Amino acid sequence: MKGIILAGGAGSRLYPLTSVVTKQLQPIYDKPMIYYPLSLLMMCGIRDILIITTEFDQPFFKNVLGDGSRFGVKIHFEVQPEPKGIAQAYLIGEKFLNGQDSLMVLGDNLFHGDFKPFRAAVKQQAEKAQGLRAQVFAYPVTDPERYGVVEFDKKTKEVKSIVEKPSVPRSNYAIPGLYLLDGSAPERVRNQKPSPRGELEITDLIQTYLDEGSLRVEVISRGMAWLDTGTPQSLLEANSYIAALEQRQGFKVACLEEIALRMNFIEVNDYEKVIDNTPNSPYRDYLKVILKEYQED
Ligand code: TTP
Repeated sequence: MKGIILAGGAGSRLYPLTSVVTKQLQPIYDKPMIYYPLSLLMMCGIRDILIITTEFDQPFFKNVLGDGSRFGVKIHFEVQPEPKGIAQAYLIGEKFLNGQDSLMVLGDNLFHGDFKPFRAAVKQQAEKAQGLRAQVFAYPVTDPERYGVVEFDKKTKEVKSIVEKPSVPRSNYAIPGLYLLDGSAPERVRNQKPSPRGELEITDLIQTYLDEGSLRVEVISRGMAWLDTGTPQSLLEANSYIAALEQRQGFKVACLEEIALRMNFIEVNDYEKVIDNTPNSPYRDYLKVILKEYQED
């Protein structure tokens, strides 16, 4: 199973913030935004990861994450020259994917909660249970018209339709930016036509799986937080959410070094080296606290 983070786009709704730095490197409380989607992939056990960015921004991402070795993962980079749609990621990543299944997360989507449903979905996908080729999630929101919307049959609970940014949504279930697709995704996108707005739409790609009966849509419980961070208001809310949690619990959300240690992606001595190379900071103090706790367990 490979991982993709799509972190290109224009970020126009965050202008002029995005004239300082791209959306996915903006701060979410105490870490750059990209840490959060990356932490999700890592917690699903995925260690081979492609990050797709604009050409201009790629060096900044490389500066922040390097090749991923300090987190026990391998990070590859590719460029999306223009934001021509989310589904285009599968064409850009075709060589990297090499026919394998993938979990793709949008670089500005932040999930927090028990990731068990995601882990279980990854496992099921790898086992190719019952002709399953694609899985997406559905999450209740108050503003479904901003997203791809899933309509369920009231009786059978089967998926009836998936519509991108409908003016009149048929349900309040939005599809979050997290897609588990099989190795045929690039081929399917190649046969796709851009939408009237000129983008290769992810909903059109998902529709091909729905049409052949190989799509599973899982409703995520409201115990999970899904925040997207594309507007000044949602960015502020995501910052406040993480700040409140971290201050209350004393644990950090999406501390990649900690996740690498707990997932056994790196050994204790690697982790100690990471601490040595981390600038003297509250973040470094936290890494030390985690080490002590880990060794005492
Ligand atoms: P959006 O929020 O839909 O678009 P955007 O990031 O360009 O922002 P704005 O609408 O304010 O201009 O994109 C969702 C995520 O997908 C975000 O992380 C950027 C990414 N994306 C790409 O990388 N390439 C694309 O072609 C598109 C459409 C999105």
